[in-house]
Amino acid sequence: MTTSANVAASPPLGATVDELDTPCLCLDLDVMEANIRAVAAACGKRGVAWRPHAKGHKSSTIARAEVAAGALGATCAKLGEAEVLAAGGVRDLLIANMIAGPHKVRRLVALRKIADPVIAVDSLALAEPVGKAMAEAGLRVRAIIEVDIGLNRVGTQPGEPTLALAKALSKMPGIEFAGIMGYEGHLLTIDDPTEKLAKINAALDILSDTKRQLVAAGIPCPIVSCAGTGSYLISIEHADVTEVQAGGAIFMDVFYREKCRVPDLQFALTVPVTIVSRPTPERAIIDAGRKTLNVEVCPPQVLGRSDILVKRLSAEHGELELAPSAQGLKVGDRLTIVPGYADLTVALHDKFHCFRGGKLVDVWDVEARGRLT
Ligand SMILES: Cc1ncc(COP(=O)(O)O)c(C=O)c1O
Repeated sequence: MTTSANVAASPPLGATVDELDTPCLCLDLDVMEANIRAVAAACGKRGVAWRPHAKGHKSSTIARAEVAAGALGATCAKLGEAEVLAAGGVRDLLIANMIAGPHKVRRLVALRKIADPVIAVDSLALAEPVGKAMAEAGLRVRAIIEVDIGLNRVGTQPGEPTLALAKALSKMPGIEFAGIMGYEGHLLTIDDPTEKLAKINAALDILSDTKRQLVAAGIPCPIVSCAGTGSYLISIEHADVTEVQAGGAIFMDVFYREKCRVPDLQFALTVPVTIVSRPTPERAIIDAGRKTLNVEVCPPQVLGRSDILVKRLSAEHGELELAPSAQGLKVGDRLTIVPGYADLTVALHDKFHCFRGGKLVDVWDVEARGRLT
């Protein structure tokens, strides 16, 4: 017996975006590849490695494209993401998050057999079970210490607490101490460029001081990792930074452009939507709400339409405020939305509909979607 009532066939390759049903997640591959080349070139020019965060794209296909363009490997926010990327052939994987609990330790040992991960730790309580399990399996895993450089999230305090943990890690069986990281995520949206530069440099100086203390204590510190899209152009200029994690840059979004003032990169990710209701002249409702788009970090925008404001999203409705010049829009008309924050938008979708030159050329899974463990 057929139980599926899903008659929506996959769109044919060669289709234009207007031939796709809405809402759906569309990726312009030419734009994404240009963004990838731009970030890789900026890092390469400074001799800084690029380890792009994959939390935003969740795709081994994209991670491989980044590596092909010169990235060192990838950064992940979840062990599950690292597993997906490793299965897709990406070996050098920083899991820039804390891995706790016996289930994950077992999975990390399995991951170490097929890839070369780097874990981030900020306590012995995290590192000891990993070291023990790796040693029992006859393996070693690289570990870096996440230092709190002002974000006040995870991380050791700079100075003596970090030094003490590094000393313990450098002697721990099953662990290869590989360096430090910090994330200057609290400084991305400072409006004044001079202030932003000074504050990011001051935060990264904490990593420099820490590295100096480690080296003085005879502990090599090859990795100094930091940075997101909103800061990487500053962070790559810092003398002690060896690699940056900027990831969302490949998609670009309204948050990076307008709040972080990231120049040059173009919008690769869009969501076509359809107007489903015109309750008043000033108001249009689209078929995309919070289950399609994200508003928390930064509201989405309508591409090329400064006369339309995304005013409010409920679960499955999006409310647009129309200036007089936009009030001719009708039910059935389509618009193109640029995600406010690509990271939290992609996580809502199953597929990337990939375009080149305005034609659908592929459909990729958002492979690590739902890999929250
Ligand atoms: C540890 C870490 N590194 C880097 C980033 C930046 O990622 P992106 O470049 O995608 O904004 C984040 C973002 O949350 C992060 O938590």
